[in-house]
Amino acid sequence: MKDKNLLFTRAYEQAVAQDAASEIKPVFHLAPYIGWLNDPNGFSFYQGQYHLFYQYNPYSTEWDSMHWGHAVSRDLLRWTHLPAALAPDEFYDAFGCFSGSAIELPDGKHLLLYTGVREEGGGKTVQTQCVAVGDGLDYLKYAGNPVIDEAALPAGLSRNDFRDPKVWREADNSLRCVISTCNMDGLGRVLLFSSPDGLSWRFESVLMENDGRLGRMWECPDFFSLNGKHVLLVSPMDMLPEGFEYHNGNGTVCMIGRYDEGAKRFIPEADQAIDYGIDFYAPQTILTPDGRRVMIGWMQNPDTCTLNRISERKWFGQMSLPREVSVRNGRLYQRPVRELEQYRSNPVFYKSITVLGNLRLSGIEGRTVDMEMTIRPDYNSGLYQKFTVCFAQDKQYKTSLSFRPHESTLKIDRKFSGSRRACIHQRRCLVHHEKGMLRLRIILDRFSAEIFVNDGEQVMSAAISTDIAAKGISFFSDGQVLMDITKYDLFA
Ligand code: FRU
Repeated sequence: MKDKNLLFTRAYEQAVAQDAASEIKPVFHLAPYIGWLNDPNGFSFYQGQYHLFYQYNPYSTEWDSMHWGHAVSRDLLRWTHLPAALAPDEFYDAFGCFSGSAIELPDGKHLLLYTGVREEGGGKTVQTQCVAVGDGLDYLKYAGNPVIDEAALPAGLSRNDFRDPKVWREADNSLRCVISTCNMDGLGRVLLFSSPDGLSWRFESVLMENDGRLGRMWECPDFFSLNGKHVLLVSPMDMLPEGFEYHNGNGTVCMIGRYDEGAKRFIPEADQAIDYGIDFYAPQTILTPDGRRVMIGWMQNPDTCTLNRISERKWFGQMSLPREVSVRNGRLYQRPVRELEQYRSNPVFYKSITVLGNLRLSGIEGRTVDMEMTIRPDYNSGLYQKFTVCFAQDKQYKTSLSFRPHESTLKIDRKFSGSRRACIHQRRCLVHHEKGMLRLRIILDRFSAEIFVNDGEQVMSAAISTDIAAKGISFFSDGQVLMDITKYDLFA
């Protein structure tokens, strides 16, 4: 058993600095300094930089003993690791410093609000909300922790599942946060709390209740207004599938609706998956200084995360691209943060190129690329059956994305990506298209693919473990397709 003290953790990080630096990691998706990473935490803009903390176990590539890792960036894409920010070293968080969020205080300090987990008898854990205050590098846990405990819970709600506070500031400068819990049947509840200072908190309302349709416990809530609507994000556990919208297991849900100020309740009008791929969970958003709502998620899924754990690697887990989100036509749209465009280089483009059977295009390859394509039928030859783009490809391996216009399905398939695990490797979603015309933006960053469909109407994300030497990209069409494509290298 390791000593869980923060100084010990930081000394350990120093001792393994060479290992950490020599690992091959994604170029612009945040991966852990070393060890294991899950949820994004404390995503905030503080003293001129973005701060992104993460659920972190430095000591192995397995989930255990949750710390908070810490990184900073000026553009959300080039991240610099800082020493670990929190270790589970107090009685109230001895089992782990679970997910939470961050905000700047009026005195210029940075406040972290996180879930402290401690063990009680019978193999159960108790979860409370705790605070640490710091300067962007070092954080001191508040002497009055925990700041929210079971005493604040309405009757019938669980103190064993009571976690993931997401804090924001209201126009009157007071703070609010949403926290997840569940009822005695295990069904998720999102609670709203308020505070004048981040230290003393008051229960306000049950913002939203899971009636049982969308999984059971809801993790990592986030709540904000966007384009005249209110949006509640949750990551439900134990979902049952619904068509191609929701899949079994842990998922992500975006509810769009309105906020009833009097009752302090959220009234959803529509819900949808946030990401239709294989790996995305526990997203968290911030409002950037220039007014954009940017979301980042853990590009992994608790149900499928044994997939990429390659024994020689000393790290596991990565964040998604930061995505600008908006609400249009009652749906959540996502696009990669515009900062990415400044890292595009070496454009290669083809216009109205015919795809029939297999095709490779000179100059189109790579594992760190941004590729925009439009496909449409050749109207003289009728609607094609299937169009496929393969990437991270060599003689043995590939990951593919296939569109079947007659079914309106888009499928990501990493079955041949090199995984030796029998977990989910394929996922499909229904997409909109005008008679076989589809727009795709595919972003690869070594060990992942993110596909933005129809200018961000849907996104599919998947982690892949394929050796980065496999950098082929190829196309296939059953029936004639006309394709426009522009491909950029990123970060050259
Ligand atoms: C989501 C989650 C959170 C929790 C954290 C623990 O992935 O289970 O609910 O705070 O991870 O690492």
